[in-house]
Amino acid sequence: MKNKTIFFILSLLMVAMSSCDRDKNNTGYAYMADHDMYFTKYDKAYGASSVLPNGQVNQPAPEGAVARESAYYPFHPKGVADRVADQAKAGKELTNPLTATEENIAEGKRQFDIFCADCHGFDAKGNGHLFKAKLFPAKPRDLTSSYVQDMPDGSIYFIITEGSISGLMGPHGVQITPENRWKIVDYLRSIVK
Ligand code: HEC
Repeated sequence: MKNKTIFFILSLLMVAMSSCDRDKNNTGYAYMADHDMYFTKYDKAYGASSVLPNGQVNQPAPEGAVARESAYYPFHPKGVADRVADQAKAGKELTNPLTATEENIAEGKRQFDIFCADCHGFDAKGNGHLFKAKLFPAKPRDLTSSYVQDMPDGSIYFIITEGSISGLMGPHGVQITPENRWKIVDYLRSIVK
């Protein structure tokens, strides 16, 4: 009886161990392997290539390529002087890709109420809660004023992305998607009409 038990345990161990000597590059028996079911005859995505000029399958993006969901935005201001120049340049070079539909304006308002109203106020006139409660030291700009409304769309987009020239208003490029930044611009235009 005892022998039988030992024999049983030993054979279990053997089965367990023999099923462990495979790794992910050697998975053991492969069903219909010669027929492309398991082993592709094509080069692997991250492997070497005998065909492509630099010898690898993965190719770098062509120079100047832009990801589908991103848009032209060449600005990386380092200080006040950069911001002055780039804010004006953005006004000339960036165009609002959206049309000011009711939906876009409504979403722009939603985004504005979340990200801007604390300082600029729900009416955008610069008397938001943080300012009125003396939690923010500077008077936020009246966004219905001609100072702002006379700026081109691209400059307002730039200010949302990078903050104000003086730095009193911080950048919101990380929090708000490009599309929603344009929707906020559409909304700001709509409240003065
Ligand atoms: C923390 C407070 C605060 C928040 C949040 C804020 N702003 Fe401002 N904003 C200001 C202040 C203060 C100024 C005046 C900046 C200055 O004098 O440099 C300003 C100025 C501006 C200007 C004019 C730029 C200028 O040079 O005066 C625009 C346009 C603007 N804000 C839009 C927005 C929009 C849109 C949002 C939301 C995405 C937003 N702001 C969020 C505080 C804020």
